Amino acid sequence: MGRKLRNIETQIFRECNHLEINIAARVIRDGGLVAFPTETVYGLGANGLDRSAVRRIFIVKGRPLINPVILHFADFAEVQDVTSEIPDLGYELAEKFMPGPLTLILKRNKIVPDIITAGRDTVAVRVPKHDVARALIKQSGVPIAAPSANISQTPSGTKIEHVINDFNNKIEVVLGNNNQETFYGVESTILDLSHKIPVLLRPGFITLEDLNTVIGHIKVHDQPRRTDGFTGLMSPGLMQKHYAPKAEMLIVKKDIDFFSTVTDYAARTQKKIGVLLWGELASHLKEILSNNYLNNIYIENVGENIEDCLYNLYDSLRKFDNLCVNTIFTGEIVYEGGLYLTFKNRLYRAANNKFYKSMRS
Ligand code: TXA
Ligand code: MG
Repeated sequence: MGRKLRNIETQIFRECNHLEINIAARVIRDGGLVAFPTETVYGLGANGLDRSAVRRIFIVKGRPLINPVILHFADFAEVQDVTSEIPDLGYELAEKFMPGPLTLILKRNKIVPDIITAGRDTVAVRVPKHDVARALIKQSGVPIAAPSANISQTPSGTKIEHVINDFNNKIEVVLGNNNQETFYGVESTILDLSHKIPVLLRPGFITLEDLNTVIGHIKVHDQPRRTDGFTGLMSPGLMQKHYAPKAEMLIVKKDIDFFSTVTDYAARTQKKIGVLLWGELASHLKEILSNNYLNNIYIENVGENIEDCLYNLYDSLRKFDNLCVNTIFTGEIVYEGGLYLTFKNRLYRAANNKFYKSMRS
């Protein structure tokens, strides 16, 4: 009990080489917590075979114990140590996409502590591609349990400053990446292989279309707009409200005039308004505001292309938190193929799937 309340002096290594990896690996082996960059988002890691170390992850994140965590390996061959069976499909996917931003749900074996799986009969496994993550896992010599490095239900950490902000004085080590940070900025794709028909639990940088090159039929679980009627809580972390900023976030439907909605709302309420947009929409709004007397609207342009939108989303949401905006407006995502499915998934979850209701309608 004393341990979880203690203020820890966090060692922060922005530049991370052999020496720093060795220090961090020793911390992992000794039951401590290390935040480290991966190609997706930062992870908050502990020895995946040490129950009490993993328990501390839940405590510092404020994460409910019903939400299982991913085990990270340096090599897919090591996944055999924690699973009871790996279907051929698992090997095929590993061959094509690992190391990389794909997590597989497989049948577990008894070595895996219950706290990792939240008592389920499956375990989530991933082989990250990032050099720092791989070196840390190799040096530690154990699978590393790691959820995203963020306080539960808030945007995942994609930059070292996010991680320091959330976990300084709560964990032993934060590893950086010589300012290279994460590559994709969005969490891994999760595919559940423990059923007859594979289920896409969370879209990521590896898209449904990418997976379809290996697997013909995949069920898509719990996307913001569901079409298959698939129910049941297959993955507790995938509840609607997630990746959320502090302010209420509202999606404005395509058929409502976005710009007059936002400017009318800002003028009427006089509150601090955040607007999260992309590409030309953002420049258009800036232009409108430059001819306007309103000074309570803050615009975050997440990018010109879909990769940039994904990379910048969490950073922009955290900027709105720092600005203490009252309400965030964003646009509807109409196109759903490829990475748009991933962007829509994260954006709509951040908004808790809430749509703006026009006062006039
Ligand atoms: O890219 C990522 O996946 C990052 C980096 C650090 O690897 N990790 C990450 O972990 O996003 P986390 O805990 O934030 O998200 C993992 C998700 C959670 O929604 C959890 O419920 C689900 O995976 N999950 C873990 N084990 C599971 C299992 N056995 N069955 C179903 N879902 C599981
Ligand atoms: Mg997370």
